[in-house]
Amino acid sequence: MSTVFLNGDYLPMEEARISPMDRGFLFGDGIYEVLPSYQGKMIGFDLHMTRMNNGMASIGIELGWDNARWRELCDTLINANGGGNLALYLQVSRGADTRRFHAYPENVTPTVFAFTFEIPAEPVADKSRVAYRVVTDRDLRWERCHIKSTALLGNVLHFQQGYQQGADETLLFNERDELTEASACNAYIVKNGVVITPPLDNHKLPGITRYILLDLLRKDGRIPVEERVVTKDEVYNADEVWVTSSSKEVVPVIAVDGKAIGNGEIGDVWLMAQQIYSAGKYDY
Ligand code: PDD
Repeated sequence: MSTVFLNGDYLPMEEARISPMDRGFLFGDGIYEVLPSYQGKMIGFDLHMTRMNNGMASIGIELGWDNARWRELCDTLINANGGGNLALYLQVSRGADTRRFHAYPENVTPTVFAFTFEIPAEPVADKSRVAYRVVTDRDLRWERCHIKSTALLGNVLHFQQGYQQGADETLLFNERDELTEASACNAYIVKNGVVITPPLDNHKLPGITRYILLDLLRKDGRIPVEERVVTKDEVYNADEVWVTSSSKEVVPVIAVDGKAIGNGEIGDVWLMAQQIYSAGKYDY
């Protein structure tokens, strides 16, 4: 039985209750984070907190917690749930109103909910890693994908579209066939030894794994990095394709829409990049 945090209390998941009038439930009106921990050590804690605070500020939720308070909550949940390989899920919704009215209510207390879930052991930096096969779709989400909102129906529909075809992820492209991201990951190609990923804007989540990976690659210096528009043709003709997210780190993609990427095997640039990531990730 897992221990969760809800509005100041630590309690068994089965006992956690929120109001059906919570705006997180009614409107998806909330912000969330997912961050990985291995044997009690979190990766990118401050970066995740900054993104969550930016998200709350952008939708006018005032919680007023500092990072120390969040860190104590995370450490308590990690310990209560046995350490090991755990992702922390943190969510702040605007809170429960007395009526369903679109405008922000005044004087409601935000709902804070957090739990852990088990994730696979730390990804290995060798070619035994299980690679992804993905499909593509036109990105039909909203124009505020930089906000890590709990309103994820757009992402869910894209993920499900791939899942039903047996794919591990869905790569998303705008109306000009330019890559945005994947339904729950950021996306990259490798061409002639250069890692290329679309620049951040309101069509992509500013992924923490993306930030750490690009920072580590630039500091290491062996693999050049470019942030620029990536077209669908470039994806199909790439030497390698990767996706990243907090619980998966850097995932090699070996097929897109049933077409092999490169020689259809995990690439050497991925191997070096995941090694660099594995060696440096705890510095964040
Ligand atoms: N997903 N883009 C989208 C749309 C995402 O949902 C995520 C993360 C990412 C990668 O962000 P990060 O590197 O900070 O995890 C990019 C999380 C894990 C989720 O919703 O489960």
